[in-house]
Amino acid sequence: MNLVAIVGSLRDGSYNRLLAKTIQERNHDNFNLEILDIGVLPHYNQDEELNPPESVIQFKKKVKEADGVLIITPEYNWSIPGVLKNALDWLSRVDKVLIGKPVMTAGAATGIMGTIRAQLQLRQILAALQVKLLPPAGNEILISQAQTKFDPETGKLTDEATLAFLDTVTERFMELVKE
Ligand SMILES: Cc1cc2nc3c(=O)[nH]c(=O)nc-3n(C[C@H](O)[C@H](O)[C@H](O)COP(=O)(O)O)c2cc1C
Repeated sequence: MNLVAIVGSLRDGSYNRLLAKTIQERNHDNFNLEILDIGVLPHYNQDEELNPPESVIQFKKKVKEADGVLIITPEYNWSIPGVLKNALDWLSRVDKVLIGKPVMTAGAATGIMGTIRAQLQLRQILAALQVKLLPPAGNEILISQAQTKFDPETGKLTDEATLAFLDTVTERFMELVKE
């Protein structure tokens, strides 16, 4: 099984990228997970969508070829980060590579809300993109106060309850991908 991860933070040391790496490391035997770099994508421009730059071509190719997509994002100002919306806009046009694609979402924030407002907005966008979304009820990976759950030295997610839930939801996502 080949999955890709789209991370909504470009920051070095991003908790959301560390979360993607945690999923990658814990599932070596289950699937390959490539973490894509959306920081290389230019601003979406409809004038360029029929003849997009190479970075967009390669990004869309990787998403198209993947068996499923993880979208792991922080919340910025009660919404999803602009870089993530930009990436989703590129994916939504011409070759609409997300239609029918299994998608699982997750988020980590330093505050107590765990990205819930961003996740709700993300689901609305993903409905427009016609993805095959892992049903959110019972599967919401919302990591609050991330600074207390990742080891500052190793960058690893160490909170046992969060890790156990993460594994459960990841297993459900694998089932969805296999359907
Ligand atoms: C521009 C900006 C806006 C933010 N807005 C929110 C917010 O609305 N809700 C929230 O819970 N955290 C917010 N935060 C704090 C993030 O949860 C925190 O910076 C988190 O570490 C970002 O994820 P990352 O570690 O993957 O970069 C914001 C941070 C930035 C830089």
